[in-house]
Amino acid sequence: MVKVAPSILSADFIRLGEEIRSVESGDLLHFDVMDGVFVPNISFGLPVIRSVRAFTALPLDVHLMTVRPLELVEKFLDQGADALTLHVEADEPERTERALRLIRARGKKAGLSVKPATPVSALSPFAPFLDLILIMSVEPGFGGQSFMPEALEKIREARRLADSLGTGCQVEVDGGINRETARLCESAGAAILVAGSHVFRAADRAEEIRILRGV
Ligand code: DX5
Ligand code: ZN
Repeated sequence: MVKVAPSILSADFIRLGEEIRSVESGDLLHFDVMDGVFVPNISFGLPVIRSVRAFTALPLDVHLMTVRPLELVEKFLDQGADALTLHVEADEPERTERALRLIRARGKKAGLSVKPATPVSALSPFAPFLDLILIMSVEPGFGGQSFMPEALEKIREARRLADSLGTGCQVEVDGGINRETARLCESAGAAILVAGSHVFRAADRAEEIRILRGV
């Protein structure tokens, strides 16, 4: 069984409240924050997270696809992020470590993500500060893309790294998750699956979340 984190990137923003209610059987709510610089798309930011925090009790799993995440970390924590994941490619190692330490110091879960072309080994220097490793199984920037099967070996490697820490660090996978890829990722060692388009396109979203969870 895995945890399912519906991504609101695929929600209808005209009805965001209802959309969130329709996926509240998920385990976390995933926010894909995009700045148009680190990734070629702009999504949403602090005002949306602030409203959503007041609206739902679901843990907020924030994914920063932005440059200079150190300058954003405290702002998202102040708005109620429960988990905050940045990209190892986004900043200098020293600033990346500071950002992770800052998240941990606030008692929240610190995560680091790798794009498809970035090896899992790039995360090793930061391993002592990680509660989450986010493996991108699509090129970050857009929902609705197809799962990249080469991510499976990275999930296995990330799981070995996470287990070696003995700290309860978990592997999360983001991109192209559906009924088939969910099981592949779970078998490879993923504990949390981000799912946007597959869940929001489903006729019965709660049932689809249950199926993805693998109960
Ligand atoms: C990519 C985004 C998406 C999103 C999930 O930058 O991070 O992966 O969360 O989208 P789907 O589930 O539609 O691939
Ligand atoms: Zn994401």
